[in-house]
Amino acid sequence: MNSLADFIAGIPKAEIHLHIEGTLEPELMVTLGKRNGVSLPFPDAETARKAYNFSDLQSFLDIYYQATAVLITEEDFYDLTFAYLKKAASQNVRHAEIFFDPQSHTNRGITFETVIRGIERAVVEAHSTLNISTKLIMCVLRHLSEKEGLKIFDKALAWKQWIAGIGLDSSERGNPPEKFRNLFERAHEEGFLTVAHAGEEGSAASIRNTLDTLHVNRIDHGVHCMEDDTLVAELVQKQIPLTVCPLSNVRLKVFESMKQHNLKAMLKKGLCVTVNSDDPAYFGGYVNENYLEAANALHLNRNDIIQLAQNSFTASSLSTVHKQLYLDEIDRYASSRNA
Ligand code: ADE
Ligand code: ZN
Repeated sequence: MNSLADFIAGIPKAEIHLHIEGTLEPELMVTLGKRNGVSLPFPDAETARKAYNFSDLQSFLDIYYQATAVLITEEDFYDLTFAYLKKAASQNVRHAEIFFDPQSHTNRGITFETVIRGIERAVVEAHSTLNISTKLIMCVLRHLSEKEGLKIFDKALAWKQWIAGIGLDSSERGNPPEKFRNLFERAHEEGFLTVAHAGEEGSAASIRNTLDTLHVNRIDHGVHCMEDDTLVAELVQKQIPLTVCPLSNVRLKVFESMKQHNLKAMLKKGLCVTVNSDDPAYFGGYVNENYLEAANALHLNRNDIIQLAQNSFTASSLSTVHKQLYLDEIDRYASSRNA
C-alpha cells in the first residue's frame, strides 16, 4: 500500500489561493536582484530564508513587499510565474487560480502591462507544455485607499480577457471590507469572480461583514469562522468555499502549531474547505507540503484528502463540465489505489 505522502502527491488537485509574488524563492530573488542591479536587504538566499521568522501577518507583508523590488521586466514576471507553474504541475496541481498584486508594482513605476504580459506568457506556455490550466485574480491592496484600488481596477479592464477575478488582500486589521464596497460593486457589474481575504487574523465578524458588504464568491482563509455557529451553518448551507492555507497560518502565528489548526474540525462541520500554499517561498512549502503537514499533525485520512482535493475543484471557477472531469479523475485515482 502507498503511503499517505504518495497518495497526496499523486492526487489531482487545484490550488486556488496563491499569491504569485509569494512564490519568489530567495534564489530567484538574488538572481533577479543581480540581473536588475537592485540591492537587497539580504546578502544571499540562505540569509534571506533564515530571516523569514514572522510574528504576524504585518511582519511578513513588510518583507514580502520589499522583495518585490527585484521584479522589474516582463521577463522577471514570466520567470516568476513559470517557476511556480512548473513546481505546481510537478505536484499534480492541474488547475491554479493565481493572485497578483499589481499595485505593489505600479507604485514602483512598473507598468500594469509589464506585469500582466509576463504573467500571461508563462500561463499560456505552461498550459501547453505542463498540462496545467490557470485563471488570474487581480488583488487590490486593502491597506491603500479604495480610490487607488479603483484606479488599478480601471487599468485592469483593458486586460479583462486575461483576468477572471478580483480579490482583496494585505493587512486585514484596520482595513474592513466596507472600505471597498464600491469597487466590489463594480467588479460584480463587470462579471468578475470575486474573492476576499477575511478571518485570517480578523474575527468571524470580519467574515460576516465581507459576505454582507462585498458579496464575494469565496473567502480566503476564513479559519476564524469557527467562532460563530450561525456563520458556520450558513457557510455550510451555501457551500461558500474557504481557501485555507495551513503552513501560512502556522508561520504567521494564526495557530501556535499545526496540531492546533482547525482544518479537520472545519472539514467535520461540512464546510467547503480547500488546502493551499498562499506564499510558498516564505512559509516552507508548496501545496503538497501543506496537505502532508496538516495530515500528519491532524491525523487526516485518505477520505479527508479525497474530500479536500474534490473541494479544490468544486470551489474553483472552472466550468461545471471541467469540474466534473476532474472529480471523475479523482474517483478513478482513489479506486485504483484502494485495489
Ligand atoms: N498577501 C500575501 N499573502 C497574504 C496573506 N496571507 N494575507 C493577506 N495578504 C496577503
Ligand atoms: Zn493569501
